[in-house]
Amino acid sequence: EILVIDFGSQYTQLIARRVRELKVYSEIIPCNAPFSEIEKRNPSGIILSGGPASVFEKDSPSIDRKIFNLEIPILGICYGMQLITHLLGGKVSRAEKREYGKAILKIDDFSDLFAEIKNETVVWMSHADKINEMPEGFIRLAHTENSPYAAMADKVRKIYALQFHPEVVHTEEGKKILKNFVFKICGCKPTWNMHSFVERETEEIRKKVGKYKVVCALSGGVDSTVTAVLVHKAIGDALTCIFVDNGLLRAGEREKVEEMLRNNFHINLKVVDASERFLKRLKGVHDPERKRKIIGGEFIKIFEEEAKKIEGVKFLAQGTLYPDVIESISFKGPSATIKSHHNVGGLLKRMKLKLIEPLRELFKDEVRELGKELGIPEEILYRHPFPGPGLAIRCVGEVTRERLEILRQADKIVLEEIKKSGWYKKVWQSFAVLLPIRTVGVMGDERTYEHVIAIRAVHSVDGMTADWVKLPHELLERLSNRIINEVKGVNRVVYDITSKPPGTIEWE
Ligand code: XMP
Repeated sequence: EILVIDFGSQYTQLIARRVRELKVYSEIIPCNAPFSEIEKRNPSGIILSGGPASVFEKDSPSIDRKIFNLEIPILGICYGMQLITHLLGGKVSRAEKREYGKAILKIDDFSDLFAEIKNETVVWMSHADKINEMPEGFIRLAHTENSPYAAMADKVRKIYALQFHPEVVHTEEGKKILKNFVFKICGCKPTWNMHSFVERETEEIRKKVGKYKVVCALSGGVDSTVTAVLVHKAIGDALTCIFVDNGLLRAGEREKVEEMLRNNFHINLKVVDASERFLKRLKGVHDPERKRKIIGGEFIKIFEEEAKKIEGVKFLAQGTLYPDVIESISFKGPSATIKSHHNVGGLLKRMKLKLIEPLRELFKDEVRELGKELGIPEEILYRHPFPGPGLAIRCVGEVTRERLEILRQADKIVLEEIKKSGWYKKVWQSFAVLLPIRTVGVMGDERTYEHVIAIRAVHSVDGMTADWVKLPHELLERLSNRIINEVKGVNRVVYDITSKPPGTIEWE
């Protein structure tokens, strides 16, 4: 195992991911974890991440010096390098010029970390402080125009340090450099894969849970499904999944979830039909934020009611992914950011539950790979994201049973056609929105005055920014025809051509 110690860099997770891509297991711990945690894990190598702090600041994050006596190879990256220098008696100074972006690295020593790297190679820098004097015992491995010590090492103690970021794609030979560290210097073997991840995680979950019970809120999406199947593999019937049918789901959603979890995986599944309750609370509500709050609040209440019925529950399993915790995993504090609609913080406290988040180290594509390893069908693993508040935030204006039904039918047609045409896998999300207006039309020889459906399809990598998809006109034509012919109450279809920003992906 390679242990990554996090000093708050936005790239920390990327380091762990790159190591896993080399088929070596890697995990992250925050830099304020007790030293015994490192000793206990006894990793084959340690990587100190970058971070936003400066070693000159008061209370800047640090690490126990004993780490240098463990005889475990260490690689410091950026802040990690400055910290090594600072702690071992070298000199760090504020650079006159901050160095950010591309730089040409010139190699001085090709023997291990830079074995088989080009003489001059492009690297990615992002730092304000730099090394002026190396600690005793260190030699220079490489330099750039601005950084006389862009890479250094104490080869006897196997301590290596880089001023640049080998984990980002802009560092052209970054992967090779990490490979050299992991294999040549730490002596790891490339034996890890998703199969070993499953073995390791299930073992850990079993140990953690002991004789207690676990609940999991199942949404039917990729993350919660993979979490449920993984936890079930670990503890079987000690897991109960709760699926709340809030009446705001897509066509056939609930049936699909029931079929898969009960019949395929034999998971304890409790389905709560709460559509009445949600719709009652949403009556007369038009404001998007109020809708979200009501739905979030109601969900937590129902979930808690159900969870309390299970005896011996001590844990809540959640499909939190790394991007969800990106800002909170670091040393700043233990509180994980939880998606606003599933504000489970209060629930955890009230019910004295602890979290199990087996996916928290993974990226979405790794979760899909894990899902495949667990035998979850592709149809589920490649599903588009669906918001917690469901169709309510795509039903602009008041949410009623009748309006939801119109939206549900239109949405079903959008998904069917998008899938049939092969676009489903090419886009991030595609769906229908019901607008709160009526417009005039003519059907047969009669005047109509009916609802408008908007179609939305976007490309995105992470949901943070998005661009509308240039769907072929023929496909849009088919969508429009089918929706107007098949969905009663709709006489007009429009296509949303707004990117994010300035628009958001959802309409509310
Ligand atoms: P927006 O509309 O903010 O959406 O551009 C970005 C991505 O997040 C999804 N989304 C949500 N997901 N709970 C969720 O789990 C929510 O409350 C929520 N709101 C938006 C949205 O579908 C898109 O993928």
